[in-house]
Amino acid sequence: MVSRSVKRVCLAYSGGLDTSVILHWLIERFDCEVVAYTADVGQQEELEGLPEKAKSTGALDCVVRDLREEFVRDFVFPAVQAGAVYEGTYLLGTALARPLIAKHQAEVARETGCDAVAHGATGKGNDQVRFELTFRALAPELSVIAPWREWELESRPDCMAYARKHQIPITATLEKPYSIDRNLLHISFEGGILEDPWQAPREEMFLLTRAPEAAPDVPCELVIGFDRGLPVSVDGEPLGPVALLERLNELAGLHGVGRVDMVENRFVGLKSRGVYETPGGTLLHAAHRAVESITLDRELMHERDRLAPRFAELVYNGFWYSPEMDFLRAAVEVSQRNVTGEARLRLFKGALQVTGRRSPVSLYSQALSSFDEAGGYDQRDASGFIRLQGLRLPVRDESGDP
Ligand code: ARG
Repeated sequence: MVSRSVKRVCLAYSGGLDTSVILHWLIERFDCEVVAYTADVGQQEELEGLPEKAKSTGALDCVVRDLREEFVRDFVFPAVQAGAVYEGTYLLGTALARPLIAKHQAEVARETGCDAVAHGATGKGNDQVRFELTFRALAPELSVIAPWREWELESRPDCMAYARKHQIPITATLEKPYSIDRNLLHISFEGGILEDPWQAPREEMFLLTRAPEAAPDVPCELVIGFDRGLPVSVDGEPLGPVALLERLNELAGLHGVGRVDMVENRFVGLKSRGVYETPGGTLLHAAHRAVESITLDRELMHERDRLAPRFAELVYNGFWYSPEMDFLRAAVEVSQRNVTGEARLRLFKGALQVTGRRSPVSLYSQALSSFDEAGGYDQRDASGFIRLQGLRLPVRDESGDP
């Protein structure tokens, strides 16, 4: 058992069963004080009454921070600019929120005189890594306590029993069938029946998106505007980051767009089945790509595209605050200087199509591409171009022998 001594711990607290039990356990185990900390990243959980609840569980204080704006502006949008999609499928909803939550937790810890931080992430997941790598990067002086890896409680029933025994106030919740994580960008579902990767999710599980077959029979068209790679408007109306993402979540959700069902490789080395709803984020990635298609130079686009999987991997693995990420973020930002324009999307029963793109700084030349015009391009040049490209091909050894 750990023989650390800590005086005051800042705990990432949601008010749910796990973190309520952790709050009490910390006080018992370390004979310390606990400052509860809750980040609002748009999870839509009851934040009202949270400080009272924390205090009645034994917390010295409870700090609630509204991080929604910062989340969308400084984490979600840069990931869209980077085209960051983990394993080609996961839009990183949870992974992007963790470094932000942890950064503010470290700040709160310092401001309230804590010498340690604690979180409720389990020992098998990615979130523990993301929290703790962020603490290492930003506040290495703080001790880190991960109760799930240290205590004797092994399951949810153990937690319930502990709560009952110590009369910890918990809102009577039914046994949760999934592990859920929600914020402005997404909802994730893992565990329960989803652990069998062949088992289809139940329709009632989904919270942000309608089933495609229950979506309206009339398609919806919308236009998303970008300024230097940053989403700035919907249908010509300028919107701030939070309002914009909320609007897109609503529209895409209504039309059943943004569901993903996958098996992913966790950083800790195991495979895990996850189901995600990322309605607005799905639109953002598609629209951004469409605007890039007319505003990015070919070589610049391909260079940025090579960085995208790496960017996604760093986010997923918890290295948001790292030298290599600083480098990638700077490179992505430079790549976006000309990505200004609009894309038109059509949503219909779960499907998303790009139907148009335009830009005041478009690199697309109708005259140059046209089948109907000669303009500015000597077709005879193509003969030499192909001849030189093909020079080495006839002498290639077809036998396959070395
Ligand atoms: N598998 C996803 C990720 O690693 C989602 C994790 C959700 N976290 C949670 N505590 N339920 O980013």
